[in-house]
Amino acid sequence: MNTNILRPSTLNYQRFKTIGNTIGHTPIHEFPSLSPRPGVRIFGKLEWYQFGGSVKARAAYNMIRYAITTGRLISGQRLLDASSGNTGIAYASICSVLGIPLTLCLPENASSQRIQILQGLGTELILTSRLEGTDGAQRVAADMASTSPGTYYYADQYNNSRNWKAHFYGTSREVYNQTGGQITHFVAGLGTTGTFTGTSRGLKCLNPKIETISLQPDAPMHGLEGWKHLETARVPGIYDSNLADDTLQVNSGEVFDLIRFIAKHEGLILSPSAAANLLGAHIIASKNRRATIVTLLADNGDKYSEILTQII
Ligand SMILES: Cc1ncc(COP(=O)(O)O)c(C=O)c1O
Repeated sequence: MNTNILRPSTLNYQRFKTIGNTIGHTPIHEFPSLSPRPGVRIFGKLEWYQFGGSVKARAAYNMIRYAITTGRLISGQRLLDASSGNTGIAYASICSVLGIPLTLCLPENASSQRIQILQGLGTELILTSRLEGTDGAQRVAADMASTSPGTYYYADQYNNSRNWKAHFYGTSREVYNQTGGQITHFVAGLGTTGTFTGTSRGLKCLNPKIETISLQPDAPMHGLEGWKHLETARVPGIYDSNLADDTLQVNSGEVFDLIRFIAKHEGLILSPSAAANLLGAHIIASKNRRATIVTLLADNGDKYSEILTQII
């Protein structure tokens, strides 16, 4: 028997369960100001209403739960991953409650707000080349995991099926139920691709007629934190390109215009990637006579003041 396995008693299992209750079940918000005609409705799930403040709480919690309950993450090991920020913050929030030490590789040009939050939550940060983005952070994390396997449990969110499964079992059912089964289109951008892959797969199981549309920035340098430009980046192992009925490109300038519009008409300051998802939903709306379109708003603008002061 492996006595190093993290046991519920060591972990304060009650806290673990309590955090679980704060994951998912986010409110859905309608954006009538973006609808081109009465038969077309656009909804966004407000994903910052959960522990850690972003959509990534879902995947981070599911990956940590799997690592602990299967005995893969053992006592004394550090959780290790690469992140552009939000998964890191979600891991850090959960790990600090559970007393699990965390090491994160993230690009050195991550915003100072993100770095401050992560350091405040007690995370060890390995800053990687800005030129290589999250691909470089992934390479460094994989090297550290293979060099010191006893020290680290490498969660590897880009290749970990528990990432997309969090959305398959959680997000897709929430979206379906919150629209009373009326959803016709699901739209989402691609980072690790967990959100798009898991939610689309889940929705197509619930109703194969639901169309799922993936979004991409229209250029490699895009400023949409959390998104990858897949043509020029390393494609995550969990990505399934067959799930997309269509792929749309969005322009960062138009995303920034939409942030201003939403602030003025809907009372929300969105993050760039949340606004990019809404822009994608708006493009789909303009092509349909009747539709119920849903997207996810990964986080709000709280962590993006460096970018938002230039936009708003
Ligand atoms: C702000 C933001 N938006 C979108 C995404 C993309 O989500 P996913 O990794 O599930 O593709 C992320 C991922 O980290 C993110 O941080």
